[in-house]
Amino acid sequence: DPNAPISVDPFRTVAKEMKFLTSNIRQLLGSGHPTLDTVAKYYTQSEGKYVRPMLVLLMSRATALTPKLPRDMSVYSVNRPITSSEILSDNNPSAPEYTSLNAISQDVAFQSEDSDILPSQRRLAEITELIHTASLLHDDVIDHSVSRRSAPSANVEFGNKMAVLAGDFLLGRASVALARLRDPEVTELLATVIANLVEGEFMQLKNTARDEKNPVWTEDTVSYYLQKTYLKSASLISKSCRAAAILGQSTPEVVEAAYLYGKNLGLAFQLVDDMLDYTISGEELGKPAGADLELGLATAPLLFAWKDNKSLGKLVGRKFSGEGDVLRAREIVSESTGLEQTRALAQEYVDKAIQAIAAFPESDAKNGLMEMCTKVMKRRN
Ligand code: FPP
Ligand code: MG
Ligand code: MG
Repeated sequence: DPNAPISVDPFRTVAKEMKFLTSNIRQLLGSGHPTLDTVAKYYTQSEGKYVRPMLVLLMSRATALTPKLPRDMSVYSVNRPITSSEILSDNNPSAPEYTSLNAISQDVAFQSEDSDILPSQRRLAEITELIHTASLLHDDVIDHSVSRRSAPSANVEFGNKMAVLAGDFLLGRASVALARLRDPEVTELLATVIANLVEGEFMQLKNTARDEKNPVWTEDTVSYYLQKTYLKSASLISKSCRAAAILGQSTPEVVEAAYLYGKNLGLAFQLVDDMLDYTISGEELGKPAGADLELGLATAPLLFAWKDNKSLGKLVGRKFSGEGDVLRAREIVSESTGLEQTRALAQEYVDKAIQAIAAFPESDAKNGLMEMCTKVMKRRN
């Protein structure tokens, strides 16, 4: 019965794997330079939601039970264990900056027992969180954010230069860990994600396709927003779900299902995010609320409101920079069905995500993936 209540806590399903996540990530970020070490690890101090790693772990476990490629059909030597001579070949163990890299490979070897989740899939979970955290470090600089995860943001604590460099450092270390998975297709996917994040951010800065001073609402307005949303938010989730299935030697059908699950959940996740920016207090969010309009950004709730109230066009055109624009826009949105329409669209995507994995065999991990969909719709931070 697909409508039966699911009583599985997605976090519990992969709790054992999640326990190592933060310490492994901190190990990946070790630097011989004390200041860089501190800034790079800053956002690992306050516990994030770990949505992406959790999805990777759940997808890894759920696809462990689905059809697999015959070993000799795999194009690349996927999951080839890293030998100890390789660990030492490119590293000088006595140089402090390499210590953490040795730790990477030892960890992968150490965790390889006693789980249906492969060491490479666990590492992938950590890599997704590194890329996400790097994007937050850069995002907080771009957005002039003052708080993140209920603490001062890194740019406030250490300044813009250090926040940017720390983000770059995270991407570098994520790339090293990615290369060590020895899977060119997975490397390509995650490298594409990094490019997609930047493309999404650019589309957002431009706001409309032609960035006119007097934009007109068209159906393109919404499709541009959805394309931006895919690049900025759903790309990482969808491609890391895809990569998890690839590392598990899944068949093309399963790989595609994993991707579609991540894509639709990712779109829903960001739609809800854009809704919360209007409806939840900053205290509950752990970051400033109502930030999008202040940044000149027209997200889904406003775009839907704009369709019925064309006077919003002028405000969108000047990025809400006029006297009282932000307040006026907020008023129009709250009197419109923009928030309801945003929620309804998020629900549509969530339904598609559940549909994508419907053929997976029943398991706690599959139920966990479905529960993540429910949680996305219910979340308040
Ligand atoms: C948070 O969005 C930001 C992102 C999801 C991605 C931002 C991407 C970049 C800054 C491009 C550079 C990325 C890399 C990896 C170098 P938000 O500002 O809407 O959310 P917030 O309210 O949490 O700040
Ligand atoms: Mg931001
Ligand atoms: Mg931003």
